[in-house]
Amino acid sequence: MLRSFSAKILIVLATVVATASAATYTNPLNQQRGADPCMRYINGRYYLTATQNANITMWSSPTIEGLKAASAATSVFTDSTAGRNFDFWAPEFWYLSGRWYIYYAVAGNRDDNTHRLHVLQGGTDANNPLSAKYTYVNSLIPSNFNAWAVDGSILDLTSSGGGLYFIFSGKTTDAVWTQCTYIAPMSSPTALSGPASQISCPTLSWEKAATPVQEGPEAITVGGVTRIVYSASHCSTDDYALGMLTLTTGANPLLASSWTKAANPVFTKNTANGVYGPGHHFMFQKDSQWMFAYHGKSAPGQGCGDLRTTRVQPFSISGTTPVFPAAARINVALTEP
Ligand SMILES: *[C@@H]1O[C@H](CO)[C@@H](O)[C@H](O)[C@H]1NC(C)=O
Repeated sequence: MLRSFSAKILIVLATVVATASAATYTNPLNQQRGADPCMRYINGRYYLTATQNANITMWSSPTIEGLKAASAATSVFTDSTAGRNFDFWAPEFWYLSGRWYIYYAVAGNRDDNTHRLHVLQGGTDANNPLSAKYTYVNSLIPSNFNAWAVDGSILDLTSSGGGLYFIFSGKTTDAVWTQCTYIAPMSSPTALSGPASQISCPTLSWEKAATPVQEGPEAITVGGVTRIVYSASHCSTDDYALGMLTLTTGANPLLASSWTKAANPVFTKNTANGVYGPGHHFMFQKDSQWMFAYHGKSAPGQGCGDLRTTRVQPFSISGTTPVFPAAARINVALTEP
């Protein structure tokens, strides 16, 4: 009797475990306005931001699938200040030196040409990026580059004795719209301490669909090797893709000569799976599993607008190199990590 009772409990337990480990999610995580995602896993919850234009909003859930139902989005920040009230783009949240910060681009006067980068500060609880209201701190406009700039992110080399750097995409010329990758040193999470240097520009055919663009730079350091994975080509095209720069170990990240560009894209459209223009990603970890959030479109020719939706997939590391999978079809069950 006792034995068969235990056996039944074991079977029930095994079923519960099997069900739990088989939890799945499907992409996309939203039906519209999912561009330029920033996603992290912090203390048992996923947090997601994406470009909303009118404000900066964050969603949170214990599971990836749960982000879809987290419709009570928290509006983290908006601003009516002249010059900083139009088209809030690509917010990224970072915990640096004991506090949460959000880096974002915003314009004014309903004029896209005035996009510049700025930083907000939030709370001090490392386990919760929503523990306090975000307030405006500073613009991050390099002394030598008061020009169109978007997609600010952080290259943090402080743990290996290097510095803290701001990386972003800047427009070099209007003659033929061209965006290159820039870097500037930071003296703190809210202040630049030197001019920006241009470290890479679009030169290869896959970086120049519609017009030459490098944007959405995101740094990753694995096994002591630092890379910047960036988005290449114009966001309006189906050929938006991810490319990769590698920093020569020990070299000065402020010098273009310290960075080597991979000859081929590392993540591209997948017409067989119905994924067009995938890119503007953000890399994060759930425990030891690397994941990347990115936006994609589900039909050709959908441009840069609200039809870009957020998707997330695991990726692997080979040696020190991130290896991205083929872009997954939407509405297909993927395993929750
Ligand atoms: C934030 O912006 C989005 C998209 O424009 C809008 O749908 C949402 O209502 C805004 N949230 C708040 C609290 O204003």
